[in-house]
Parts: sequence; C-alpha cells; structure tokens
Amino acid sequence: MYVCKHCETSSLEYKGQCGNCKKWNCLQERDPSTVIVQTKEVENESRAEPITEIDVTVDKRRSTGMVEVNRVLGGEGDNVGIVYPSLVLMAGDPGIGKSTVLVQIAANVARLYGPVIYITGEESKSAVTARATRLGAKHERLHLMSTGHLEHLEAEVRRLNPVLSIVDSTQTMHRMDMPGEAGSITQVKGITSFLRPLAKRKDNEMGVILVGHVTKDGSAAGPKTLEHLVDATLYFEGEMGRPLRVLRSAKNRFNNTTDIGVLEMSQVGLVDIASPSAHFLAQRRSGEPGTVVTAVCGGAANRRAILVEIQVLFGTAEAPRLQVSASGLDQARVIQMCAVLGRKAGVQGLDKAQIFSGAVGGLDVDERAADLAIAVAIASQVRQAPVQAGLIVFGEVGLMGELRDTPQAHLRLKEAAAQGFTKALVPPFKALEPVDGIEIMRAETLAEAIDMALD
Ligand code: TYD
Ligand code: MG
Repeated sequence: MYVCKHCETSSLEYKGQCGNCKKWNCLQERDPSTVIVQTKEVENESRAEPITEIDVTVDKRRSTGMVEVNRVLGGEGDNVGIVYPSLVLMAGDPGIGKSTVLVQIAANVARLYGPVIYITGEESKSAVTARATRLGAKHERLHLMSTGHLEHLEAEVRRLNPVLSIVDSTQTMHRMDMPGEAGSITQVKGITSFLRPLAKRKDNEMGVILVGHVTKDGSAAGPKTLEHLVDATLYFEGEMGRPLRVLRSAKNRFNNTTDIGVLEMSQVGLVDIASPSAHFLAQRRSGEPGTVVTAVCGGAANRRAILVEIQVLFGTAEAPRLQVSASGLDQARVIQMCAVLGRKAGVQGLDKAQIFSGAVGGLDVDERAADLAIAVAIASQVRQAPVQAGLIVFGEVGLMGELRDTPQAHLRLKEAAAQGFTKALVPPFKALEPVDGIEIMRAETLAEAIDMALD
C-alpha cells in the first residue's frame, strides 16, 4: 500500500505521481492495516455496484450566514451553504462587492463554526480590517493574511485548522514552485491543484472560496479558465452605481444552477433582500399602458418565483424599420414577439416602431415564460390601454401565436397571491392546482390573451 505524503491518497501500486494531488515522488509505502479508510476507498473505486445498493450521502455544508448566498450554494433545511470540502469560485467585475460580501461571510462562519483564514493579495490587512470594522464583520476566529504567495497558507492551515479559507484573489496569488506570472493560466491552475488537497485533509475538511475578477482583455486567466477546476462558480453581478446585486451560479456540483440570490449593497455591506418581488414592484405605477407584471422562475429546479415588471414604450421618432432596445430582456425575443403580434394577433404598426423595453429593477429576464408578458405589454402600448388591475401574466408564445405551458406555474401563482395579485393570465394548462385568491384566466392564443388582458 502506498500513501501520498501530501494528500494521504492511497494507491495499490507505486507511481511516480500522486493520482489525486499530482505531486511527484511523494508516495510512501505503508502497512495496509494502518490505512483502513483509504483501503476502503480503493475497493470502492475498483468495483462496479448495482445502483440499487448505493447509499446516497448528503453533502456536509456550513452556512454562510446569508440566506441568499446559501440559496445559491444549495442544501436543505439546516444543512445549507458551502460544502466541505469544496472549492468555490466567486467571480465578478472589479468593484462589484466580492471582497465586501466575503469578509461578511468569513466573519459569520468564524462566529458559527470555527477558524477562518482570509488571504488578501490585493489589500493590506489594515484595509480589510477597516472595512470589516465598518461592516461589523469582526470575530477573533477570523484570521487575515496579506500575501501573494500561496505557500504561506499551507502552514497556517495546519496550525489553525480553519473550516473556511478565502483566497482574494486568484489573480494576485502566486505559487513559487511553478512558472508564470500571478494570474497566468499555469499559475491559476497551480493554485487550485494546491488548494484541493488542502481542503480535503483528513480530519479537517474545509471549504475554500476563491475570488476571480472578470477580465476584459484576457491578460489574466478569468473565471472561465477556472470553471472546470472548481466545484462551483458563482457570478456576482450588478450595475455600478446601483445597489442591486444578483448572485447566480454558472456551475454547481452541489445544487441546481437556476436558483438566484438577490442582495443589496448598503452602508452596512451586502444585505439579503428578503422579498425580491416586493422590492422590484415597490415603485410601480399600475394603470399605465405598456406595463405588465410577470413571474420569473429561472427553471424547473428552481425554488422561488420573483415578480418583475415589464415595461414597453414607443419612441416619438419615425423609424425606417422596427428598432428594439431591451434592457434586462432578451432583445431577440422582443423582436420575435413583435413579429408574432403583427402576423398572428392583428396588432398593426409595429414594422416602423421604435420600441424601448425593459425589466425593471436590474434582474435579467431571459426565460420563455416572459414571452406573454412582453407581448401583452407591447399590445397594451399600441392600443394605449392598460392591463386589468391586479393581473399577473406568464406563458410562452409560439410562432403560430399559440400559448404554451411553462414550468413552475404553481410557484409563480403562489408568489402572485402573496404579493396581492388577484388574477393570472396564463396558457391553457390542463392540470393547474388552484391558488387561493387568484382567478385563473386561460387563453389559447395571443390574440385571445390580449383581449382578456386589456381593460
Ligand atoms: P469590493 O468588495 O471592494 O469589490 P471587489 O472585491 O468585487 O472588487 O467593493 C467595493 C465597492 O463597494 C466600493 O465601490 C464601495 C462599495 N461599498 C459599499 O457601497 N458599501 C460598503 O459597506 C462597502 C464595504 C463597500
Ligand atoms: Mg476585492
């Protein structure tokens, strides 16, 4: 029996390189009776088992102390948050708030579970401390290191046994035993292969969060390069100068990738937005032509629906042909809705219109279920007739003008009811569980839907 002296992975035969951590000349012979756990693992790996006999193990998780971040990371009940061991990449534009949210998470985890190491390669310890003080994110178990050399982490991990380590950022960390500048592809790959066995140490499994800036010029290895080396990639997004932040995952081995987290940048750092629907609808002016509320959900695996207002306005200029601008909406879908409205629903005058459209509040709405709301908003603007009060609209619109069912209808209806809506205009849905307080209005075609929706 051979065991790697770095990561303790066992192997039945001698190899020059460890199969797990990829380090060279590190396998040492050991008496098999002393490596019971590893022997089991080898047996496990070398045998095919009937699927009916395999136990499903639940991932062990630690909460980040932030509901919206936990939601994206995944988990159920009390077992939510970051899986240990795992490597999670937090990607986003510079200045969007990655360091802010991570120092908050670091303090929460330190308070809830145990030691945390935060390595900052960009800012001094004093700068991070000043921010943490302002945010109330201080705890004696949160340790800061200001270094660009990753090797410094290893000894500290052995000394402090952290439950979480944060590396801010991959682009400023360097491994001395590998070639290349900090941030180069070789270095970034080297960093993840260094951290993986450290996260998975026997008796001390920790989560690791890596920060990766989205780089426009590609000079440094961006999040895309890292995506296949980590277990989850989270994108932290938002518009500069606006408080809304959305956390979504591009990849997550431990959760679906459609659940999103909604947060707000405030004086006290990032705060969970408890009810995104209420937040997005807060300043809505109902009773105007061109505004329609829809419920977005993301996908079939998602656990939350969010209500968003879709707005459409026509420009006063005469356009040579249809012009569409779309913010927070898929421009191609808006153009397609114009075509279906003109050809299949008898809505005239769109071929030379200048259309401004958008989803209010900063959320990107890119699901098919928003089709009907977009189409109804355009029709409402053309006819200068507002939609009925208390109405919510969702459904996919086909090219023949037919309405198609969309997933998660019940979740969307429940959210509409919770926000005080009373009617829902939807596709024909054969089986739709009723929701208290919501009158369901089914339409087969877009033309029919427009007649039902407009006052
Ligand atoms: P930061 O976390 O440094 O961004 P990143 O690590 O992604 O580069 O965020 C910096 C911005 O956040 C900065 O413009 C100021 C703003 N900010 C707040 O609005 N409120 C706060 O409490 C903090 C700490 C930062
Ligand atoms: Mg930062």
